[in-house]
Amino acid sequence: MSRPVIIAIDGTFASGKGTLAGKLADHYGFDHLDTGRLYRAVAQTVLTRGGDPDDAATATGAARTLDIALLDDPVLKSGPVGAAASRVAMHIPVRQALRDFQRDFATDTARKGAVLDGRDIGTVICPDADVKLYIDAKPEQRAQRRYAELTGYGEDITYESVLTQLRERDHRDSTRAVAPLKPAKDAHLIDTTGLSVDGVFGQAVRLVDAIMSGSRARRKPPGTGMRSTPDS
Ligand code: C5P
Repeated sequence: MSRPVIIAIDGTFASGKGTLAGKLADHYGFDHLDTGRLYRAVAQTVLTRGGDPDDAATATGAARTLDIALLDDPVLKSGPVGAAASRVAMHIPVRQALRDFQRDFATDTARKGAVLDGRDIGTVICPDADVKLYIDAKPEQRAQRRYAELTGYGEDITYESVLTQLRERDHRDSTRAVAPLKPAKDAHLIDTTGLSVDGVFGQAVRLVDAIMSGSRARRKPPGTGMRSTPDS
Protein backbone atom coordinates (compact mmCIF):
# COMPACT_ATOMS: atom_id res chain seq x y z
CA MET A 1 0.00 0.00 0.00
CA SER A 2 1.39 3.43 -0.86
CA ARG A 3 1.86 6.11 1.77
CA PRO A 4 -0.79 8.80 2.18
CA VAL A 5 -0.75 12.10 0.35
CA ILE A 6 1.42 14.47 2.38
CA ILE A 7 0.99 18.23 2.55
CA ALA A 8 3.92 19.92 4.32
CA ILE A 9 3.35 23.44 5.60
CA ASP A 10 6.18 25.49 7.06
CA GLY A 11 6.33 29.11 7.98
CA THR A 12 7.03 31.82 10.45
CA PHE A 13 5.44 32.23 13.85
CA ALA A 14 1.80 33.42 13.70
CA SER A 15 1.83 33.47 9.90
CA GLY A 16 -1.49 31.59 9.81
CA LYS A 17 0.03 28.22 8.86
CA GLY A 18 -1.71 26.32 11.66
CA THR A 19 -5.15 27.64 10.75
CA LEU A 20 -4.49 26.89 7.09
CA ALA A 21 -3.27 23.37 7.89
CA GLY A 22 -6.43 22.60 9.87
CA LYS A 23 -8.68 23.93 7.12
CA LEU A 24 -6.87 22.00 4.38
CA ALA A 25 -7.07 18.80 6.43
CA ASP A 26 -10.84 19.27 6.89
CA HIS A 27 -11.31 20.10 3.22
CA TYR A 28 -9.49 17.02 1.88
CA GLY A 29 -10.47 14.64 4.70
CA PHE A 30 -6.82 14.32 5.80
CA ASP A 31 -5.36 14.12 9.32
CA HIS A 32 -3.51 17.11 10.75
CA LEU A 33 -0.46 17.27 13.00
CA ASP A 34 0.60 20.61 14.44
CA THR A 35 4.25 19.71 15.08
CA GLY A 36 4.83 22.88 17.13
CA ARG A 37 2.76 21.20 19.82
CA LEU A 38 5.39 18.51 20.18
CA TYR A 39 8.06 21.10 20.96
CA ARG A 40 5.65 22.99 23.19
CA ALA A 41 4.83 19.79 25.08
CA VAL A 42 8.54 19.10 25.61
CA ALA A 43 8.99 22.68 26.84
CA GLN A 44 6.02 22.42 29.17
CA THR A 45 7.38 19.17 30.62
CA VAL A 46 10.74 20.84 31.28
CA LEU A 47 9.10 23.89 32.86
CA THR A 48 6.81 21.76 35.06
CA ARG A 49 9.86 19.92 36.36
CA GLY A 50 11.54 23.25 37.14
CA GLY A 51 14.18 22.59 34.47
CA ASP A 52 16.00 24.89 32.06
CA PRO A 53 14.89 24.72 28.38
CA ASP A 54 18.44 25.64 27.35
CA ASP A 55 19.83 22.55 29.06
CA ALA A 56 20.16 19.86 26.37
CA ALA A 57 20.12 16.86 28.73
CA THR A 58 16.95 18.00 30.51
CA ALA A 59 15.13 18.82 27.26
CA THR A 60 16.22 15.55 25.63
CA GLY A 61 15.03 13.54 28.60
CA ALA A 62 11.63 15.23 28.33
CA ALA A 63 11.44 14.60 24.56
CA ARG A 64 12.36 10.93 24.84
CA THR A 65 9.69 10.28 27.47
CA LEU A 66 7.08 12.65 26.08
CA ASP A 67 3.51 11.95 27.15
CA ILE A 68 1.50 12.38 23.92
CA ALA A 69 -1.64 13.05 25.99
CA LEU A 70 -0.04 16.42 26.82
CA LEU A 71 -0.52 17.58 23.22
CA ASP A 72 -4.13 18.53 23.96
CA ASP A 73 -3.31 20.60 27.05
CA PRO A 74 -4.47 24.24 26.50
CA VAL A 75 -1.47 25.50 28.49
CA LEU A 76 0.67 24.73 25.42
CA LYS A 77 -0.79 27.78 23.68
CA SER A 78 0.65 30.27 26.18
CA GLY A 79 3.39 32.75 25.28
CA PRO A 80 5.98 31.50 27.83
CA VAL A 81 5.56 27.88 26.69
CA GLY A 82 5.98 28.94 23.03
CA ALA A 83 9.17 30.85 23.87
CA ALA A 84 10.54 27.85 25.80
CA ALA A 85 9.56 25.59 22.86
CA SER A 86 11.85 27.51 20.53
CA ARG A 87 14.69 26.96 23.02
CA VAL A 88 14.24 23.19 23.43
CA ALA A 89 13.90 22.97 19.62
CA MET A 90 17.54 24.06 19.24
CA HIS A 91 18.89 20.79 20.71
CA ILE A 92 19.68 18.16 18.07
CA PRO A 93 18.74 15.13 20.26
CA VAL A 94 15.36 16.72 21.01
CA ARG A 95 14.64 17.02 17.29
CA GLN A 96 15.81 13.44 16.71
CA ALA A 97 13.55 12.18 19.49
CA LEU A 98 10.52 13.83 17.86
CA ARG A 99 11.39 12.99 14.26
CA ASP A 100 10.09 9.42 14.10
CA PHE A 101 6.74 10.34 15.63
CA GLN A 102 6.24 12.96 12.89
CA ARG A 103 7.37 10.66 10.06
CA ASP A 104 5.23 7.80 11.34
CA PHE A 105 2.24 10.14 11.41
CA ALA A 106 2.93 11.28 7.84
CA THR A 107 3.42 7.82 6.39
CA ASP A 108 0.74 5.86 8.26
CA THR A 109 -0.97 3.95 5.47
CA ALA A 110 -4.24 3.90 7.43
CA ARG A 111 -4.61 7.59 6.50
CA LYS A 112 -5.93 9.03 3.26
CA GLY A 113 -3.62 11.98 3.69
CA ALA A 114 -1.63 13.93 6.25
CA VAL A 115 -1.12 17.65 6.71
CA LEU A 116 1.82 18.57 8.94
CA ASP A 117 2.70 22.12 9.86
CA GLY A 118 5.88 23.36 11.49
CA ARG A 119 9.29 24.77 10.64
CA ASP A 120 11.17 21.89 9.01
CA ILE A 121 8.46 19.67 7.51
CA GLY A 122 9.28 20.26 3.84
CA THR A 123 13.03 20.40 4.42
CA VAL A 124 13.75 17.65 6.97
CA ILE A 125 10.74 15.64 8.17
CA CYS A 126 8.96 15.01 4.85
CA PRO A 127 11.31 16.09 2.05
CA ASP A 128 9.25 13.94 -0.36
CA ALA A 129 5.91 15.56 0.52
CA ASP A 130 3.50 15.84 -2.41
CA VAL A 131 2.82 19.52 -1.72
CA LYS A 132 5.03 21.97 0.16
CA LEU A 133 3.78 25.36 1.22
CA TYR A 134 5.74 28.12 2.97
CA ILE A 135 3.62 30.70 4.77
CA ASP A 136 4.81 34.14 5.86
CA ALA A 137 3.47 37.60 6.59
CA LYS A 138 4.88 40.97 7.70
CA PRO A 139 6.04 40.85 11.36
CA GLU A 140 3.68 43.67 12.41
CA GLN A 141 0.66 41.82 11.11
CA ARG A 142 1.71 38.54 12.68
CA ALA A 143 2.30 40.33 16.00
CA GLN A 144 -1.16 41.89 15.76
CA ARG A 145 -2.76 38.46 15.23
CA ARG A 146 -0.80 36.90 18.07
CA TYR A 147 -1.56 39.84 20.39
CA ALA A 148 -5.29 39.38 19.76
CA GLU A 149 -4.97 35.64 20.38
CA LEU A 150 -3.00 35.97 23.64
CA THR A 151 -5.20 38.70 25.10
CA GLY A 152 -8.14 36.48 24.15
CA TYR A 153 -6.64 33.83 26.47
CA GLY A 154 -6.45 36.50 29.19
CA GLU A 155 -2.68 37.09 29.02
CA ASP A 156 -1.57 40.50 30.27
CA ILE A 157 0.75 41.60 27.46
CA THR A 158 1.40 44.59 25.18
CA TYR A 159 1.53 44.61 21.38
CA GLU A 160 5.11 45.94 21.53
CA SER A 161 6.31 43.05 23.68
CA VAL A 162 4.60 40.54 21.35
CA LEU A 163 6.39 42.12 18.37
CA THR A 164 9.74 42.01 20.17
CA GLN A 165 9.28 38.34 21.16
CA LEU A 166 8.18 37.47 17.63
CA ARG A 167 11.32 39.00 16.14
CA GLU A 168 13.44 37.10 18.69
CA ARG A 169 11.61 33.85 17.85
CA ASP A 170 12.03 34.39 14.07
CA HIS A 171 15.72 35.02 14.62
CA ARG A 172 16.20 31.94 16.84
CA ASP A 173 14.22 29.66 14.50
CA SER A 174 15.89 30.80 11.30
CA THR A 175 19.50 31.02 12.50
CA ARG A 176 19.79 27.82 14.54
CA ALA A 177 22.35 25.30 13.35
CA VAL A 178 19.94 22.38 13.05
CA ALA A 179 16.82 22.34 10.85
CA PRO A 180 16.56 26.14 10.58
CA LEU A 181 13.32 27.68 9.40
CA LYS A 182 13.56 28.21 5.63
CA PRO A 183 11.46 27.38 2.60
CA ALA A 184 12.22 24.05 0.93
CA LYS A 185 13.62 24.59 -2.57
CA ASP A 186 10.40 23.25 -4.08
CA ALA A 187 8.00 25.03 -1.68
CA HIS A 188 5.24 27.35 -2.89
CA LEU A 189 5.29 30.63 -1.00
CA ILE A 190 2.14 32.31 0.26
CA ASP A 191 2.34 35.77 1.84
CA THR A 192 -0.71 36.14 4.08
CA THR A 193 -0.20 39.87 4.77
CA GLY A 194 -3.52 41.59 4.23
CA LEU A 195 -5.31 38.34 3.36
CA SER A 196 -8.30 36.93 5.22
CA VAL A 197 -8.30 33.34 6.48
CA ASP A 198 -10.61 32.41 3.60
CA GLY A 199 -8.40 34.28 1.12
CA VAL A 200 -5.35 32.28 2.20
CA PHE A 201 -7.34 29.04 2.15
CA GLY A 202 -8.65 29.73 -1.38
CA GLN A 203 -5.14 30.39 -2.68
CA ALA A 204 -3.80 27.23 -1.03
CA VAL A 205 -6.62 24.99 -2.33
CA ARG A 206 -6.05 26.22 -5.89
CA LEU A 207 -2.35 25.41 -5.54
CA VAL A 208 -2.89 22.01 -3.93
CA ASP A 209 -5.52 21.00 -6.50
CA ALA A 210 -3.25 22.01 -9.36
CA ILE A 211 -0.23 20.17 -7.92
CA MET A 212 -2.19 17.06 -7.03
CA SER A 213 -3.89 16.76 -10.37
CA GLY A 214 -0.52 17.15 -12.08
CA SER A 215 1.34 14.76 -9.80
CA ARG A 216 -1.22 11.97 -9.43
CA ALA A 217 0.11 10.24 -12.51
CA ARG A 218 3.66 10.61 -11.27
CA ARG A 219 3.08 9.28 -7.71
CA LYS A 220 5.89 7.06 -6.56
CA PRO A 221 5.41 3.30 -6.43
CA PRO A 222 4.44 1.72 -3.08
CA GLY A 223 7.23 1.33 -0.56
CA THR A 224 9.11 4.50 -1.48
CA GLY A 225 9.55 6.13 1.90
CA MET A 226 11.08 9.40 2.96
CA ARG A 227 14.25 10.51 1.22
CA SER A 228 17.21 10.01 3.53
CA THR A 229 19.13 13.10 2.47
CA PRO A 230 16.94 16.07 3.34
CA ASP A 231 18.12 19.49 2.21
CA SER A 232 19.13 20.93 5.58
O1 C5P B 1 4.54 26.73 15.76
P1 C5P B 1 4.74 26.94 17.22
O2 C5P B 1 4.77 28.37 17.65
O3 C5P B 1 3.76 26.15 18.05
O4 C5P B 1 6.16 26.30 17.54
C1 C5P B 1 6.85 26.54 18.75
C2 C5P B 1 8.35 26.43 18.49
O5 C5P B 1 8.66 25.06 18.23
C3 C5P B 1 8.85 27.19 17.28
O6 C5P B 1 9.20 28.53 17.58
C4 C5P B 1 10.04 26.39 16.84
O7 C5P B 1 11.21 26.80 17.50
C5 C5P B 1 9.72 24.99 17.29
N1 C5P B 1 9.33 24.14 16.16
C6 C5P B 1 10.33 23.56 15.41
N2 C5P B 1 10.03 22.71 14.40
C7 C5P B 1 8.76 22.41 14.11
C8 C5P B 1 7.71 23.01 14.84
C9 C5P B 1 8.03 23.89 15.86
O8 C5P B 1 11.51 23.83 15.66
N3 C5P B 1 8.51 21.55 13.13
